[in-house]
Amino acid sequence: VKVDPFDLVVFGGTGDLAYRKLYPALFHRERSGQFTEPTRIIGVSRRHLDRDAFRASVKDALVRFAAADEASSADLERFLARLDYVAADAAGDSGWSDLRETLGGDDRIRAFYLATGPDLFCPIAKRLGAEGLATERSRIIVEKPIGRDGATADAINTDIGSVFPERAIFRIDHYLGKESVQNLMALRFANALLEPIWNSAHIDHVQITVAETLGVEGRGAYYDESGAIRDMVQNHMMQLLCLTAMEPPNSMDADSLRDEKLKVLKALQPIDGSNAASLTVRGQYRAGFADGGPVPGYLHDVGRHESMTETFVAMRISVANWRWAGVPFYLRTGKRLPQRFSEIVVGFKRVPHVIFDMPSDSIPANRLVIRVQPDEGVKLWMMVKEPGPGGMRLQHLPLDMSFAKAFGMASADAYERLLMDAIRGNAALFMRRDEVEAAWRFIDPVREAWAAMREPPRPYAAGTWGPNASVALIERDGRTWNEDE
Ligand code: BG6
Repeated sequence: VKVDPFDLVVFGGTGDLAYRKLYPALFHRERSGQFTEPTRIIGVSRRHLDRDAFRASVKDALVRFAAADEASSADLERFLARLDYVAADAAGDSGWSDLRETLGGDDRIRAFYLATGPDLFCPIAKRLGAEGLATERSRIIVEKPIGRDGATADAINTDIGSVFPERAIFRIDHYLGKESVQNLMALRFANALLEPIWNSAHIDHVQITVAETLGVEGRGAYYDESGAIRDMVQNHMMQLLCLTAMEPPNSMDADSLRDEKLKVLKALQPIDGSNAASLTVRGQYRAGFADGGPVPGYLHDVGRHESMTETFVAMRISVANWRWAGVPFYLRTGKRLPQRFSEIVVGFKRVPHVIFDMPSDSIPANRLVIRVQPDEGVKLWMMVKEPGPGGMRLQHLPLDMSFAKAFGMASADAYERLLMDAIRGNAALFMRRDEVEAAWRFIDPVREAWAAMREPPRPYAAGTWGPNASVALIERDGRTWNEDE
């Protein structure tokens, strides 16, 4: 579906996010023929580059990150011709008049993407207001992290909100742009058989794992200030939890959806100084083997002698509402784990009575495994009879649906969907202000409890599943982390 012509201004236009994610995503949209003329993309940063040098740098990035090649050269030329560049100081005075001159008329859709550090969100937003660049048809797109805690998120939201109305603010959580995350909604609300059993009467527990093999990858300065709780849990993990636990929204309309997610966040039972020690586990990786070879530890990666920052978090969360009472949600995420994958596992209750000649606990419970990445798909583990005359021997096997096989195509990058949604003004897959703030209201007491405990994160060797305490966290309840292939 074509989108109306737009001007997209990328602040932080020569940064990592822009080169690795944004331009490649836009280029793919170009290739699919979605843009209409005269759509333009304007990179802004402090560096002094001319337009040709900027285009050349984007071309390099597209060859590296978007597999641009001979076959796509016509699309590539068309894409590069859309690019312009303005050197401007986001926090100072220089360059703003150049930006004004470079922009098309005020009646065009204008999107300002802040691919910068969060410290620049407020200065840029205010400046856009003061310069009169924020028009009726403008939107502003910001990346996480929105703040370091509830108070700073509130301040950022207030400042941006003084220039842009909420409907024009698009807060990205790129997990919401992932195909398989949206598929979670299709699975839950387009299949009559799941929703009736999606509750505490039938579900024993839920697990959400976001495992990465990478370390902090040159982002040490940012990461050491954030840790896994701010980097992953407050946003991506909370969103996965919300989509799994929310009530059916009335429609896919942005506010219906976000109202339901907000209710989940408000229903989370607080974790604070009274219970954090038993409900959470923090870890930090040491040297080990990951990603195919020996790797150094976290302190080496961030160049520090000591650090209290966690690179692994596991938590046991309760959603205190009618649907989920008594159903624990186990979350875990970490860097330098043995495999990269994200999945949501819904563990159902066991059969109530065993008619076969075997101990009752030898029949495993059904599990629904929603593979978010890679190998996106859904597996439903069921019991079946082993073929053969040798009596009733049962096996646990999956009904297995791989999206790549079913659709014969790789899914689009999250940013492709999100950028186009923001241009169109569809906010359903973006975080609303109250959602971000509610997520912080849950996270802040956890962090404060950790700070008060003054215990360093538990060490784990790179390439292992985090500290043993994370296994203990779930096994204490008689359950285990999912280990399907
Ligand atoms: C980002 C985090 O938001 O998500 C990174 O800042 C993390 O630390 C990344 O690596 C994971 O995203 P994905 O899409 O690779 O799962």
